[in-house]
Amino acid sequence: MTDLSERQLREKEYYEQYAAKFDVGQSIDFSPIEGPLLGRERRPWNSYWRTYEIPVDYYLNNKGNKNFELLDLGCGPGDNSLRFSRIGYKVTGFDISSSNIENCKKLFEKNQCADRGHFLVSIAEKLEFQDASFDIVAGIDILHHVDIPKAMREVERVLRPGGIAVFREPVEVPFLDWIRNTRLVRFFVPNAASLEAHITEDERKLNDTDFKVINEIFPLMTIERSLILARFDKFIPRNSKSASLFEKVDYFFTKIIPGYSLLGGGAVIILKKK
Ligand SMILES: C[S@@+](CC[C@H](N)C(=O)[O-])C[C@H]1O[C@@H](n2cnc3c(N)ncnc32)[C@H](O)[C@@H]1O
Repeated sequence: MTDLSERQLREKEYYEQYAAKFDVGQSIDFSPIEGPLLGRERRPWNSYWRTYEIPVDYYLNNKGNKNFELLDLGCGPGDNSLRFSRIGYKVTGFDISSSNIENCKKLFEKNQCADRGHFLVSIAEKLEFQDASFDIVAGIDILHHVDIPKAMREVERVLRPGGIAVFREPVEVPFLDWIRNTRLVRFFVPNAASLEAHITEDERKLNDTDFKVINEIFPLMTIERSLILARFDKFIPRNSKSASLFEKVDYFFTKIIPGYSLLGGGAVIILKKK
């Protein structure tokens, strides 16, 4: 790995510690994969389910090609990689944290699929892969931790023509974020960097400038915004596997109220390489 920037060093140090919280023995919830893959259930209103659904559909539309390669960008401890491999992809995952990469390897071994996953320590801004190596690049909650222009140029480079990239990211809504950052709201719902809250010092939500940069690199870009009323889900106790009513309402309003989606604090970004 090349010399790390100050920001990368801070992120690495944070995630070397955070990785210790991950339990590789836990049972992974495959319902967001198996739902659409087996034709049981889809949840287009949930940004995580949607991010898994896109690789599922790409796989199905290409007749379940077991040689398709997926790159999990900033893979963390590997639970997402494991889900992607359950679709049928050969998965490569990388992360700046070596402890996370150890977690990935152990998780794949525990789930008896070590031969379907390859993991390495690397940075998103400079990938070690050859041009056009992957059919899909997927990333969950990662772009807001990295240098977006550099990382996206690398994503474009390593994707094969006709390949797709999908990201799930938090998005800035200036007025709502201004309210969020008032002292009063921060008093009741703190958002300072901490291991407990899983917030790093350097992460920042994506904004219009980031979307413009991404769109210059990928002219074929679709953004699906969500998380409007669903911002309040965290205050409502519910089974983490059950669907959120707020997410469904947001999805419905997004379809019928022009401009409603612009209030969305989350986005699924779908990119296609020509
Ligand atoms: C919020 S976590 C998301 C991890 C994983 N995608 C998930 O959904 O669980 C952000 C991840 O980005 C990694 N990271 C931060 N900066 C990075 C960089 N410049 N290159 C590669 N990985 C990075 C961290 O180590 C961490 O695993």
